[in-house]
Amino acid sequence: MSFESSAASRRKAYRAEKEQNRKVFKHVKIDDSTVEVDKLELPKKRYYRQRAHSNPFSDHQLEYPVSPDLMDWSKLYPHYYDKDTKQMTKDVTIADIGCGFGGLLVDLATAFPDKLALGMEIRVQVTNYVEDRILALRGKHLETQGYQNISVLRGNAMKFLPNFFKKGQLEKMFFCFPDPHFKQRKHKARIITNTLLSDYAYVLREGGIIYTITDVLDLHEWMVKHLEMHPLFERMDQKWESEDKCVEIMTHSTEEGKKVERKKGDKHIACFRRLPNPQIV
Ligand SMILES: C[S@@+](CC[C@H](N)C(=O)[O-])C[C@H]1O[C@@H](n2cnc3c(N)ncnc32)[C@H](O)[C@@H]1O
Repeated sequence: MSFESSAASRRKAYRAEKEQNRKVFKHVKIDDSTVEVDKLELPKKRYYRQRAHSNPFSDHQLEYPVSPDLMDWSKLYPHYYDKDTKQMTKDVTIADIGCGFGGLLVDLATAFPDKLALGMEIRVQVTNYVEDRILALRGKHLETQGYQNISVLRGNAMKFLPNFFKKGQLEKMFFCFPDPHFKQRKHKARIITNTLLSDYAYVLREGGIIYTITDVLDLHEWMVKHLEMHPLFERMDQKWESEDKCVEIMTHSTEEGKKVERKKGDKHIACFRRLPNPQIV
């Protein structure tokens, strides 16, 4: 067997085992009574490699609820489901859009232990990696019940956000190192556009914050321009940025951010507050 084909079969076997684990553990409440919890090893990134880009306009056969009322959050956050009332005890209020390999989510879990944070990611293998990472962390932190408050789902944030989130549900949305889509004819695929900002304003509560960070100056200027033009957003000043805990976290925690650090690249940050809806007179 050639080196390539044996590597491919190792990857296949690894993925099959992880998939089996996900079937067993994904939707269950992981606690002291969970059997075989030691099977939940932290995943190895090399087995989840996938093409860097996924076309946000193609039909990916994604699953999404018809409306937020039909979204079953108990499957993603079983610890926060009350069996007696059949209700979630908390709502998701933080979203990491295009979460990649999940570094930000992992840091948000401990920085905001009382909040539920969700990563939305379009690439299948990358989503699987984050799922396996969160399950393993839940298994390793049984005594503190850590990492029960973060989860990930495969979804296209450019199409279905209002299917998942109610009006004004979110207090923070992160856009960390979004795909830059450098060519002009591809700019329409950027995750911040005027139309999409209206969707984001819909799911963000008044006073909620959009966080953006990128190493690509042109994309930074594009995001700032579109956010400044939008009537429902107002830029936060540098003093606010320097004092905000999330700015500090997102600057250092994501995998792309770490790559930029290694290459000694720049990081451009802009944060915007969701303004109240104008009064209709
Ligand atoms: C450059 S990576 C950054 C990942 C992560 N935020 C970080 O900083 O490490 C951009 C990510 O956004 C995801 N993505 C792109 N378009 C998306 C969409 N429409 N919905 C959800 N995820 C998307 C990509 O698959 C990719 O993982």
